[in-house]
Amino acid sequence: MKFYITTPIYYVNSEPHIGSAYTTIIADIIARYKRFMGYEVFFLTGTDEHGQKILQAAREAGKDPQEFCDELAEKFKKLWKDLKITNDYFIRTTDDSHMKTVQYFVKKMVENGDIYKGRYEGWYCVPCETFWKESEVETRDGEKICPQCKRPVKWVSEENYFFKLSKYRDVLLDIFDNDPEFVEPDFRRNEMLKILEGGLEDLSITRTTFKWGVPMPGDPDHVIYVWVDALINYVSAIGYPDDMERFEEFWPADVHLIGKEINRFHSIIWPAMLLSVGLEPPKKIFAHGWLTVNGQKISKSLGNAIDPRAFVERYGNDVIRYYLVRDIVFGKDGDFSEENLVKRLNADLANDYGNLLHRTTAMVKKHFDSKVPKPGTLQSIDNWLLERYDETLETFISLMDSYKLTEALEKVWAFIADVNKYFDGTKPWVLAKEGNMERLGTVLYNTLEALLKVSLMTLPIMPDTSREVFKRIGFHESENKEHLEKWGVLKSSSPVSHGKPLFEKIDLEKFERVVRTVSVEKETNMITIEDFSKVDLRVAKILVAERIPKSKKLVRLEIDLGDLGKRQIVAGIAEFYKPEDLIGKLIVVVANLKPAKLMGYESQGMLLAAQYGDDLKLITIDGDITPGAKVS
Ligand code: MSP
Repeated sequence: MKFYITTPIYYVNSEPHIGSAYTTIIADIIARYKRFMGYEVFFLTGTDEHGQKILQAAREAGKDPQEFCDELAEKFKKLWKDLKITNDYFIRTTDDSHMKTVQYFVKKMVENGDIYKGRYEGWYCVPCETFWKESEVETRDGEKICPQCKRPVKWVSEENYFFKLSKYRDVLLDIFDNDPEFVEPDFRRNEMLKILEGGLEDLSITRTTFKWGVPMPGDPDHVIYVWVDALINYVSAIGYPDDMERFEEFWPADVHLIGKEINRFHSIIWPAMLLSVGLEPPKKIFAHGWLTVNGQKISKSLGNAIDPRAFVERYGNDVIRYYLVRDIVFGKDGDFSEENLVKRLNADLANDYGNLLHRTTAMVKKHFDSKVPKPGTLQSIDNWLLERYDETLETFISLMDSYKLTEALEKVWAFIADVNKYFDGTKPWVLAKEGNMERLGTVLYNTLEALLKVSLMTLPIMPDTSREVFKRIGFHESENKEHLEKWGVLKSSSPVSHGKPLFEKIDLEKFERVVRTVSVEKETNMITIEDFSKVDLRVAKILVAERIPKSKKLVRLEIDLGDLGKRQIVAGIAEFYKPEDLIGKLIVVVANLKPAKLMGYESQGMLLAAQYGDDLKLITIDGDITPGAKVS
């Protein structure tokens, strides 16, 4: 039995945050669950490293794109290791083997008559790496913006290769019809159906304005569209086309786990690409919702795009995993609220689960010399507990198998409540007082066994906690589903240890949020008007402009600063302006910057320019004004 699960491959333009970690943590939970259930699992994650967005991020960081990607890919790998993610492989789209597969795949699409050349005219959102039609873009203050991320879009008019996506509409509709669970949850499936019913347009699959990508086979002036490149990772990682034996073992993927905003790529474009080369579509696409943090969208500028390790350090890895599954209904949007997290930690984990273990092991220590007692004859309350367990297990498995993770966990906690009821109802402390050791042994045995079942069911979600519980209750067998299926796995007289509480409660009154702390630090980065006034901004007129020999980027300018005299500055604008077009322009410069040497030339100031992605424009003056005029 094989099980192939994937996460999206992450863009390396910025470091991961709790939102990006969410997809991977959930995938890890599913992968661990399937392994536990006896499947041979292949769990894939990785990084998406080509395209304009990454190229721009590398440029902004002043780094060579490959070097930039190498650094970021390491950060993702390290994070997954720190979060104890059990991926079996980590793919990078700049891997040679992947790039070869992309070319092979696209060549096959060409051979199958699905690619043609045409002109693409339309809008493009670099942050989403998505083409948008005129009818799809929105307008804000007269500017066209992306309907998804609301950032400005760019007009693109290019000779491109196109994929005949429209040709696959009817087959896709059939797939959706034949398998109502092809895309889940159903409200996400309905969104996709609406798109299909509205008809599909062919997709531009190459770009010519930059080079950071996989060259189009036979036409290297074009690079393959980053999404086409990225989607192919799901087959290149398992050996397509060089190792077809291995590929066939795992393909089609059992589930592509993704966030809702990239559903169209996975549920429409990707299956069509696969059909084009004669491969089967994946078995399922599950599109989860988006997280906010303490009610706010996660974003760098808000200061809440925090490294997930900050949460883990504060609360513990298992607690974060538990909270993400329990409080954020899997499939829906949700809020990562630290206050709710603390409430869950205190109530569900420390009280319901931790205390039950604590009370039980304390009594085993005191009355049975820290050894698992022997169970005696069962009474009706014991049978009630066993029935509750049978029903819990059946429902738990069926919920987990249908990715209803939140409900599955709720079910386990309903069982914990039953075990607590059982414990309180059988009054073991009275049995101890009365010296009814046989009955006491039975009650404690059943409670320990119930705790074993709970820790086995929650093993994929809280692996470290479960293993700690195993140790304490004397379970040393292998971790597999057989031990879930029968009651009475614990061996009488195996050692039990009564340790410190499993979870430490946090006092909500005194509790400091990870997020709030960071935002306060952010605020202290604000500058005052006095700070700003230290910068001497002046209007300058460009008198002379010439390229610096042997430099691709630098231009030497002589500028007139009026009363401040004439100066030389060196600016990295050669890729954007011809020197002759600069002469006579009125620009803005920082006049009190310490001089610096660039390629042997002294720069006595810095000009101001605006940069957005591949574009750079000088800050100029609206009309004429005397050089040297102060800008404030
Ligand atoms: N590179 C593409 C995927 C290509 S797959 C062939 C991409 N990368 S991403 O880095 O932008 O996003 C990766 C995943 O992180 C997506 O599933 C996305 O939904 C998820 N998340 C990013 N921010 C998120 C939240 N705030 N909340 C939940 N998930 C979010 O898209």
